[in-house]
Amino acid sequence: LFQPERKNSKGWDLTALDQIEEFDAGRAAFKSATWRSEPILATEEPAEGDEVLPVTNPADPSDVVGEVVMSSKADVESAIAHARRWQAPASTRGATLRRAADLFEENAHEFFALTAREAGKTPKDAVAELREAVDFLRYYAARGEELKDPARGTFACISPWNFPLAIFTGQVAAALAAGNAVLAKPAESTPLTAALGVRLLHEAGVPRDALQLLPGAGKVVGAAITSDPRIAGVCFTGSTETAIGIDRAMAANMDPTAPLIAETGGLNAMIVDSTALPEQAVRDIVVSAFQSAGQRCSALRMLYLQEDIADRFLEMLKGAAEEMGIGDPWSHSTDVGPVIDARAEKGIVEHVEKARAEGRLMWQLATPEKGFYVGPALIKLGGIEELEREIFGPVLHVATFKSTEIDDVIDAVNATGYGLTFGLHTRIDDRVEHVTRRVHVGNLYVNRNQIGAIVGSQPFGGEGLSGTGPKAGGPNYVARFTEPMRIASQP
Ligand code: SER
Repeated sequence: LFQPERKNSKGWDLTALDQIEEFDAGRAAFKSATWRSEPILATEEPAEGDEVLPVTNPADPSDVVGEVVMSSKADVESAIAHARRWQAPASTRGATLRRAADLFEENAHEFFALTAREAGKTPKDAVAELREAVDFLRYYAARGEELKDPARGTFACISPWNFPLAIFTGQVAAALAAGNAVLAKPAESTPLTAALGVRLLHEAGVPRDALQLLPGAGKVVGAAITSDPRIAGVCFTGSTETAIGIDRAMAANMDPTAPLIAETGGLNAMIVDSTALPEQAVRDIVVSAFQSAGQRCSALRMLYLQEDIADRFLEMLKGAAEEMGIGDPWSHSTDVGPVIDARAEKGIVEHVEKARAEGRLMWQLATPEKGFYVGPALIKLGGIEELEREIFGPVLHVATFKSTEIDDVIDAVNATGYGLTFGLHTRIDDRVEHVTRRVHVGNLYVNRNQIGAIVGSQPFGGEGLSGTGPKAGGPNYVARFTEPMRIASQP
């Protein structure tokens, strides 16, 4: 993986006062701006459009961030019919994507404001999101330039709301770096960030017929672009359930060799044994479980504490978690922002209230009145087998284990069928080796937090129910968007 040419984007250091001031001054202009998203099609004809819906701030639903014109069936049909592979040589495509990366950085402040207001991103999350998008553009540009294989055709890229900029951009950049045409469908709750990204990609020089934007409903846009024989492949990040539905729709309607590249859910666990450094483990748990309000597919859901240290450790963990700021994502003192919408809030709150009724809720932070908030919570469980589904929010489940039970814990985690991230805090080297061999997981993090994989150095993606691979931000990703071909001639 060592790539001497690779440099990750620098971002903003939000512990440095001068950079905080610059960050705040730059985004201030967008504090009450509004944005618009609509179908961006290859044809000169304006899009037909369907409903026009307001896009509001999850921290304050009275703050209207903009509006979205949902794509109509005719818009989707037009996009499919006019999509053209990006014919330019790989070096031109690479240079264009790098230009887009520069434009993303030049417009960083607008993205910081937009992702805060549309998706509830705290300053730290907003910076991470922009950096990851920029890194994807540059990294995939370079990988595309190394490949000789032809593009597959038109790719449907379907992205999630939890990384409205980074994952949206990563999918699109990979498909384009390989020379495909892209139909991009952003998540229904975050169409505005995607529209700004597409405008900058076009400004950088990506042709309109190689990249079209189709904001809209899953039932209209998603359903059409995952079951049309003119589509050569689908790139999807979201729930395992939806990925399985897409897989079936593709199998029934599309070329049987068309790839589905899916990054899906996880029931991510961490083991903390009695040799772990408690101060470090506590800090890493708080970040892994509660940063981004737990709305990362990598986030920690199930903590296993060795019985001998559990009581004292839990006191420390509650003490640290108690210090978190929950509230307006615009503020630098906020650690935990809102969840994405009313539906998400309801589902997570129901889970917490059930635990409360059953006497298993160990701790919860109070929440602001306005907006879609769930107070970070700790819930006691017997083990991961009792966790019925992925709770996509700031809720951490805790169980204890005896020193002789470590293999049972790993086997229970493996038995869920998911395998995205796994954390281990221990100071026993043999244990690291043992767990590494036994656990079935895409990304294993030792003595650190388990979120925030870095493009190029920590390729990200799981196994089993957590995704198909190849790993995003890794050397094999762009190749999956090509038609592998070898030409041999007489020597
Ligand atoms: N790539 C993200 C992370 O590592 C996915 O949630 O946290």
